[in-house]
Amino acid sequence: MAAASLKKRLYYHTIIIDELENRSIEVVFDYSKFNFLSRGIPMAMFKITGERELKGRVELRGAKNAALKILPAAILANGVTTIHNVPDILDIRKTIEILQSIGARISFADNTVVIDSSTITSSQPDEKLVNKLRGSIVLIGALLAKFGDATFSQPGGCLIGARPIDDHLDVFKQMGVTIRRKEDRFMLSGKPKASRVVLKKMSVTATENAILASVFSSGITRIEVAAAEPEIADLAKFLNAMGAKISGAGTHEITIEGVKELKPVTHSIIPDRIEAGTYIMFGLATNSEIEVGPIIPEHLEIVFKRLVDAGAEFDFFKSGGNLYVRTKKHRGLTSQDCDTRTYPGFPTDLQSPYTALMTQTKGECTVFETIFEGRFGFVEELKMMRADINVLNPHELKVSGPTKLKSNSITSRDIRGGAALVLAALVAHGTTTIEDIEFIDRGYEQMDIKLQGLGAEIERID
Ligand code: EPZ
Repeated sequence: MAAASLKKRLYYHTIIIDELENRSIEVVFDYSKFNFLSRGIPMAMFKITGERELKGRVELRGAKNAALKILPAAILANGVTTIHNVPDILDIRKTIEILQSIGARISFADNTVVIDSSTITSSQPDEKLVNKLRGSIVLIGALLAKFGDATFSQPGGCLIGARPIDDHLDVFKQMGVTIRRKEDRFMLSGKPKASRVVLKKMSVTATENAILASVFSSGITRIEVAAAEPEIADLAKFLNAMGAKISGAGTHEITIEGVKELKPVTHSIIPDRIEAGTYIMFGLATNSEIEVGPIIPEHLEIVFKRLVDAGAEFDFFKSGGNLYVRTKKHRGLTSQDCDTRTYPGFPTDLQSPYTALMTQTKGECTVFETIFEGRFGFVEELKMMRADINVLNPHELKVSGPTKLKSNSITSRDIRGGAALVLAALVAHGTTTIEDIEFIDRGYEQMDIKLQGLGAEIERID
């Protein structure tokens, strides 16, 4: 094995060892396979036989990256909050555990979460749980607003990059919060003051942390260079329904007028644009006619533009008061360059499935991943299926197609990279096994069941 890929594989293994250790699972390393035989919970896998045309409709859930912030935000209202259309995925279940660790009483059934925040007593969430979930970082802003203090440890990096939290700490410093650090633990204290906050970069969760921290600060807080993702607008819509006074969310300048208290409400999460884009690309890659929704087309404007430029055609239609999109059969797509940007640019979370799709389109294109420095981990696995991809540097790759992919035994390393591997397996000749699909389950609800519903030959093996 080349030194570079050996180093990469070892890096992945350290991540997996941490994950297994967190779950106190005995780790056994199988040198013959140079991989893990983990005991305790099974490292589940997908078995997919490719070259199947898909057909039918896939019903999508609420946006993971909206729900992961709206659940913690619910602790700001004393009482019982109800949130509908919550995806049943591992990251949501971890968030619920974290909120329960500070005393919230929560039920989760049929994609509805009910949170009673009146029983919350602590501002110190369980560190082992927090460590495992980067998205829980917005809990700091909510705890600072509610209690005026929060203790937190540096969330782990993951396979898409270092994931530092300097932008978040900078936001809290600008709001007059005192931050003490001991090793990788941060003790934050002081009620956030209404301030003019200028973000160091257009960080999604740092923007959300600034909003959450300021809802009770007396006076006006202005956030400049704010991220504008639709999930931030959904968080603001939820907080405003509770009585907050937030304007400009979804733009790069957000104003928050502090209020005294917030009241519990009922809210439904917006559709998941990344899940929608993923299934749309599954449909195009397999040259199938499938229906995907509910969607909000304007949240995917540039994704549709890129795919239409590649020769894809879509129908949009209403059903049950919601909007759906249908992928049309095509006579071969042409490769299109793609650069990931903050919203409304091409979403970094669709870069991996898009790159996998470009192995099936005619020509060569460049994919420029401007947001994360480690988001090409899935490429190694695609190359084991004969994909013609050349990684130029941590931010740029060239992919040529169309290539007839060949089945293999591969491993998913992160949520969206896992989706890219599923796309490749759906078009590959033969039967592919994808290991460690917990990563996929973190961000996609029952992907196997949904694909089976579309006629794919996919089996989950625990
Ligand atoms: C959110 O992560 C999403 N996660 C990510 O989705 C998404 O890829 C990302 O935004 C970009 O859109 C959630 O909302 C839970 P950032 P976030 O802060 O907020 C650097 C998925 O697959 N940065 O906008 O953590 C950072 O390293 C996930 O659903 C700092 O340097 O991303 C990255 O290079 C993956 N310091 C860039 O900024 C900081 O303090 C953008 O990150 C924070 C971020």
